[in-house]
Amino acid sequence: MSICSWHLACAACSQTYAGLERRYRCECGGTLDVVHDLSACTLDAATLDARRASADPLDRSGVWRFRELILPLEDEALRQCVVSRGEGNTHLYEARRIGRSIGVENLWLKHEGENPTGSFKDRGMTAALSVAKHMGMGTVACASTGNTSASMASYAARAEMQAVVFIPDGKIAYGKLSQALAYGARTIQIQGDFDDAMALVQDLCEDEDIYLVNSVNPFRIEGQKAIGFEILQDLGWKVPDWIVLPGGNLGNNTAIAKGLIELHALGIIDKLPRMAVVQAAGANPLYTAWTTDSDVVNVRADTIATAIKIGAPVSWRKSLRGLKALDGVVTEVSDQQIMDAKALVDAAGIGAEPASCATVAGAQRLVAEGIIPHGAHVVGVLTGHLLKDPDVVVGYHTGKLGGIESNLANAPKAASADLEIIKALLRD
Ligand code: F0G
Repeated sequence: MSICSWHLACAACSQTYAGLERRYRCECGGTLDVVHDLSACTLDAATLDARRASADPLDRSGVWRFRELILPLEDEALRQCVVSRGEGNTHLYEARRIGRSIGVENLWLKHEGENPTGSFKDRGMTAALSVAKHMGMGTVACASTGNTSASMASYAARAEMQAVVFIPDGKIAYGKLSQALAYGARTIQIQGDFDDAMALVQDLCEDEDIYLVNSVNPFRIEGQKAIGFEILQDLGWKVPDWIVLPGGNLGNNTAIAKGLIELHALGIIDKLPRMAVVQAAGANPLYTAWTTDSDVVNVRADTIATAIKIGAPVSWRKSLRGLKALDGVVTEVSDQQIMDAKALVDAAGIGAEPASCATVAGAQRLVAEGIIPHGAHVVGVLTGHLLKDPDVVVGYHTGKLGGIESNLANAPKAASADLEIIKALLRD
């Protein structure tokens, strides 16, 4: 096996730290990166393709298949601690009909909602929980708009660890809350928003013997890189022109960019795609910073896409670094545009939660503005499953979402239990 050594380094001041330690930030306060020494790494596409066809559970995982670039498992003790649910291996859908509706001729959608707990978070969580187990932690914690907590709760249960979840009171989708409760997490609904919850959980993990697994945790980012690796593997290592994804706390775009830069440095891909991050207009601190060429200024967030209702993103500096390396852009879309795009994604038989559909709405805007050419090969990331937020779906189709026009409503029809009446209804 090809071996890559690695260490931690501060994204702000470059101070380095040795491997597996319980540290989320540098002494200077900057966030940390896992830095892989790629000069000693001989990983290639043929090895990765062989692993995809293998029956070994580590090779089958859409994260650990890429282990040299996640956390090299030549350390047998770490290998024994891997907590995996066979994450990844999500479908890359050819989405020509949706593409035609939004003006992108060659649109593909990577559905990360097909992960074990229904969102892309499982890729980062397998890495963070494996490290937590290796360090002998008994409890893990996160603040969440819902998906991180669902994922953490499941992986912690698999690892026989206690999970502590901080969620904003009354502002998370029911599918996600159900998962945290069902998987046995101690769930604390705090009176405040995600940003308040995030600040509290960081303090809690400083004071107590609890391991923080939000995306400020550098190992979470390493696992999430595998979304980009797998997109490229799905495409036979042929690089698309654009990768488009939603941005909230900005861990995911940070991760995908970091991974693609590493894949390029190893020569497994011959160029880098461009990247577009799409924010909800009501939760747009990165978009504002991008368009005014300034630092991120926190905002009070509000959007129907509760997954990305975040006004104080923790990973914004690292995220800008990746965007610049990938010649990226940042855009924003309204809640109406998100819901119109969601109706298209759902009606195509694919389906995704609102935040995911910001991807499609954002691609539509960027094509209309001429930033993405009509003929470009575009891969959009759908980050979460349709059933994460059933209330929004039913509200949309029954015309009951305040402030949103139900332009593509498919409302249920009431009928008495009479065959002739039902036949007449179906002829309508
Ligand atoms: N899409 C979905 C479905 C999400 O759940 C999230 C983030 C994002 C996009 C944005 O990703 O934060 O890496 O920029 N959800 C987090 C959570 C915040 O707590 O589940 P990001």
